[in-house]
Amino acid sequence: MTDGRSVEDLVVGVLGGTGPQGRGLAVRLAAAGQRVLLGSRDAERAGEVAASVAERATAAAGGIDVSVTGGSNVDVAGAADLVIVAVPYAGHADTLAELATPLAGKVVVDCVVPMAFDELGAYVLDVPEGSVAQQAAALLPDSHVVGAFHHLSAVLLEDLSTPTLDGDVMVVGDVREATDVVQALAGRLPGMRGIYAGRLRNARQVEALTINLVSVNRRYKAHAGIRVTDV
Ligand SMILES: NC(=O)c1ccc[n+]([C@@H]2O[C@H](COP(=O)([O-])OP(=O)(O)OC[C@H]3O[C@@H](n4cnc5c(N)ncnc54)[C@H](OP(=O)(O)O)[C@@H]3O)[C@@H](O)[C@H]2O)c1
Repeated sequence: MTDGRSVEDLVVGVLGGTGPQGRGLAVRLAAAGQRVLLGSRDAERAGEVAASVAERATAAAGGIDVSVTGGSNVDVAGAADLVIVAVPYAGHADTLAELATPLAGKVVVDCVVPMAFDELGAYVLDVPEGSVAQQAAALLPDSHVVGAFHHLSAVLLEDLSTPTLDGDVMVVGDVREATDVVQALAGRLPGMRGIYAGRLRNARQVEALTINLVSVNRRYKAHAGIRVTDV
């Protein structure tokens, strides 16, 4: 899984890393010194976005070495030690179905929210497997799937003028070693903690809570996150 290495030594891949959420996680992790590989369906696009993320991370890193490079999703899945899935729900199953082999044995962190909008606002989509994270686990039987990073606004992640974030990352998964490493990764984001929040069968509530936060954001013109008290 991580061969006993500490989280700082892991290369983090981001599938769909050219979008706001992937870019935001990448720039914050890279600025903290994490080596990051940005994935895309188009390797050239990944390279361009990675160069821009690296430039912004370097400006914020205060002298820490920054490493962000781009590649195709499949190459990133193969080369990274731990992979974050940041594609839209509409492309989630098809993306992962092709990556079971390169992702075997790895921790796969899913932040995908099954969400749509209608005239009443945001609402949660039914996922046949129960949750997006459980869908990932079904498609990646040899990976260690963890759900996390759902409640982080991409806008705040990308806004490096605010150096410290405010909130917690709820982490769900079935394998202790995998949830521990993802909690540690979340803790590398300045101001954030990773909080264990149950087994993968509880991912549905964590994913769906994001829709409540989106509703908060629309009403209050905010970028709300969550903080777990008394922990
Ligand atoms: N934005 C947020 O604030 C936020 C917060 C929490 C969680 N999330 C979750 O994070 C994920 C990414 O969010 P986002 O706002 O960054 O999404 P996005 O911009 O819509 O998509 C991210 C990237 O995924 C790739 N992509 C688009 N359609 C795809 C498809 N059908 N199949 C495979 N790849 C596809 C694109 O990259 P290429 O074209 O380069 O391949 C795109 O740049 C979503 O599942 C969302 O629910 C987002």
